[in-house]
Amino acid sequence: MKLRPRLTLFNISLVLIVIVATGIFTAISLRYFLLQEMKADQMTWFNNFKKACLRAEYLDDDLAVRSFSESLEQSVPELSYAVYVDHYRPGIRLGGVNSLQRFEELPPSCPDENVQSASREPFLEDVATSNQRLRYYCQQVRQTNAQGYNAKGTVYVGFNMRILDAKLRQLTRRMLVPLTWTLLVVLALGAMGSMLLARKMTRPIRHLTEGAQAIGEGNLDTRIPIESSDELGFLAHEFNLMATKLKELDQLKDDFVSAVSHELRSPLSAISGYVELLRSKPLEKITAEKREKALGIIQESTNRLTHFINEILDLTKLKAGQVEVHYRPFDVEEAVEEVVGLFQPLLEKKSLEWRIDVPPDMPVIPADAEKIRQILTNLISNALKFTPSGGTIRIWARNHIEFIQISVQDTGVGIPSEAKEAVFERFRQVKGAKEHAGQKGTGLGLAIAKGNVEVHGGRIWIESEFGEGTTVHFTLPVRPQEGSDEGV
Ligand SMILES: Nc1ncnc2c1ncn2[C@@H]1O[C@H](COP(=O)(O)OP(=O)(O)OP(=O)(O)O)[C@@H](O)[C@H]1O
Ligand SMILES: [Mg+2]
Repeated sequence: MKLRPRLTLFNISLVLIVIVATGIFTAISLRYFLLQEMKADQMTWFNNFKKACLRAEYLDDDLAVRSFSESLEQSVPELSYAVYVDHYRPGIRLGGVNSLQRFEELPPSCPDENVQSASREPFLEDVATSNQRLRYYCQQVRQTNAQGYNAKGTVYVGFNMRILDAKLRQLTRRMLVPLTWTLLVVLALGAMGSMLLARKMTRPIRHLTEGAQAIGEGNLDTRIPIESSDELGFLAHEFNLMATKLKELDQLKDDFVSAVSHELRSPLSAISGYVELLRSKPLEKITAEKREKALGIIQESTNRLTHFINEILDLTKLKAGQVEVHYRPFDVEEAVEEVVGLFQPLLEKKSLEWRIDVPPDMPVIPADAEKIRQILTNLISNALKFTPSGGTIRIWARNHIEFIQISVQDTGVGIPSEAKEAVFERFRQVKGAKEHAGQKGTGLGLAIAKGNVEVHGGRIWIESEFGEGTTVHFTLPVRPQEGSDEGV
């Protein structure tokens, strides 16, 4: 079943449960309330009859008791009897004719005076026979009459419970009808509300589903309308962010493919062109100078291809987290000297001044020397590429106890501040920077350097003034990363 009908059904069931529970609770309370009311009425009738009996005793007026009993018989349908039994005149029972007759049919018994005098509440008892159910109240009373004689008797008032039950049923039924209607209206409103709620709740989910479908079909420009600030709104927002990210990734993929094909195409066409040239004539007809030039370009192109493919492989491994770091004791000064040594002819050719400052207190740290050399090679080659003749390159290292920091500074073209983060992404090159650099790059060096620094647990960042120069800093922890294979 779909989410919307399921939610609707669930909400309606909830409303139904609440309504049924409310109904049951109200019906029970109603019945209890009616019973209490009936009991209060019975007590009132009993007390009125008792007062009438006491007054009659005082005035010595038996007729008053009889007529009061008769009036009760007429006005109270559930009354079975209202009888007064005089204790000093044995055999004398006062009450209406019907009352006396019913009293005789099922004579009640009242506990003696002492038992009930403490509470002054009338004694109450329910009795049942095969054809009657009766509740009676009784109380012994004393009175001194007008002549000063003491009188004593028992007041009995009985009620027919069958009539009372029927009355209760009727009353309950009468009150249950409007209650049922009210609950039905509430149920209808609840059902409507449930449907609306389910619709409102599932709408953003439907939008999400449609959005996901559209993206699945390759439409990466799809965006979901954000209609609320709740969890679903947040989900839609996150979904839109994901779609933007996917779009960027898609763009990056396209850029990657075109950059890779471009990088492969130029050296390959150079190789193919010069090989063709060499094969176009017999070798002896080509001048030694031309042959040398062709072979030089073929070699340079092959080197470029090898370098590029190696960089791509390194980057792929770094991205996939498959790179292995072989920690060995690493001496910073030695590595810096070694890498600068490789670049010395180029530095001299470009008449660049260089300064190395590695203080003697530099600790020997655990690191993968091959990877650190790769970082230094790229940073120094960048400095060299982007610094015009006559500039200065400085390389220094500092010991910060917990980590060491190595920095490569140049007085070259600099990097605009908005590109300082971006140049660490693969294939990112500052526009126009290539013109400054004598040799072409692929834009992968800094991405690889960042990956290599991070697998060591360090950090790399750039400080640069556009047009004035660049400093690239990176740190390496003095203690190896957890889970490393130091000393292997
Ligand atoms: N020292 C620097 N001065 C000025 N710009 C720099 C410097 N270092 C890097 N850049 C800019 O950052 C870009 C990316 O550098 P990165 O080392 O990743 O690639 P690359 O040097 O172009 O190519 P590769 O290193 O892969 O041969 C460079 O193309 C350049 O625009
Ligand atoms: Mg580079």
